Amino acid sequence: MSDELPRPPRRKRYAGKNPRKFEDKYKEHDPARYRDTVAKVLASGKTPAGAHIPILVAESLAALALKPGMTGVDATLGYGGHSLQILQNISPGGRLIGLDVDPLELPKTEARIRASGYDDSRFQAHRSNYAGIARAMTDHQLNAVDFVFADLGCSSMQIDDPARGFSFKVKGPLDMRMNPDRGLSAADWLAKVSMEKLAAALLQNSDEPRAETIASAIAGGRFPSTLELAQAIRESVRISDEDERERTVRRVFQAVRIAVNEEFTALDAFLRAVPTCLNPGGRIAILTFHSGEDRRVKQAFKAGVLEGIYAAASDSPITAAPEERRMNPRSTSAKLRWAIRA
Ligand SMILES: C[S@@+](CC[C@H](N)C(=O)[O-])C[C@H]1O[C@@H](n2cnc3c(N)ncnc32)[C@H](O)[C@@H]1O
Repeated sequence: MSDELPRPPRRKRYAGKNPRKFEDKYKEHDPARYRDTVAKVLASGKTPAGAHIPILVAESLAALALKPGMTGVDATLGYGGHSLQILQNISPGGRLIGLDVDPLELPKTEARIRASGYDDSRFQAHRSNYAGIARAMTDHQLNAVDFVFADLGCSSMQIDDPARGFSFKVKGPLDMRMNPDRGLSAADWLAKVSMEKLAAALLQNSDEPRAETIASAIAGGRFPSTLELAQAIRESVRISDEDERERTVRRVFQAVRIAVNEEFTALDAFLRAVPTCLNPGGRIAILTFHSGEDRRVKQAFKAGVLEGIYAAASDSPITAAPEERRMNPRSTSAKLRWAIRA
């Protein structure tokens, strides 16, 4: 028997010098083997295919005031970027539970964290909606923890993979579910939704100024692919400014994604549950990416301080410094807020 590492499978041929499609970027998908390629992609301000660059890491760790031996929950495990940093800061002796609804990415992230040296006594991955954080903690024999962290929305792995159907820039099935085992795909949701319900979703989920016009054009429509929906949105608004037209498509995709994944229902339930999950003096820090999320977090923390549930909360959100925005444009809209359990 040979001791050699198994050779990677022979790659498929792609047109041109460099791979352009997500699935062809085999080097970026294997950062352990192709470190130089991944470093080059990162230096150019892009996210390597199949990865996610964690946002506001130092600021999140500071907001959580982590110490060795602490126990906590990362409610949105994703690629595990924040979790790995949290684990370093609570070691030795700490313990972290990582939640995520995504059944496709969760096992990969769990394997990555195990490969970094954290065994079952230090880290456990748990497939759960963060709305059910209290139940998930009970499953791990935890009544209350020292910190809870959440980094809301989708990961880059989800957005960039055409097969998941989140991006209006590449062709894929119009799915958008973070948990493809549950609920309706975006295509099925749009085929059933009423014009009124869709207009309300566009307004509430992404402050879309042309909500009614767009809703009357696409509600009840059949859009099997991401590109077909994007084109229908463009045609519905007839905006001559190309940038504003693309921003409109982006906002509609965001609103549909939020509706399909019932993101605000989950966030509201999570914000209600978190105080019961924290030890006195325990901390919650949440990263949001648009006004609908940020409003909810801000109001929940403010109300919590007034009711004496939280001893303190951040006054204004912490945002990414220019250098981080340049290196990772996805950090531009991020806002970090924290609160301390009374
Ligand atoms: C922005 S990513 C987190 C990235 C992570 N902090 C990192 O550094 O890799 C958000 C993650 O939250 C997950 N997610 C979204 N809504 C969720 C929910 N209601 N419950 C649990 N996980 C959720 C998504 O599947 C995604 O993996």
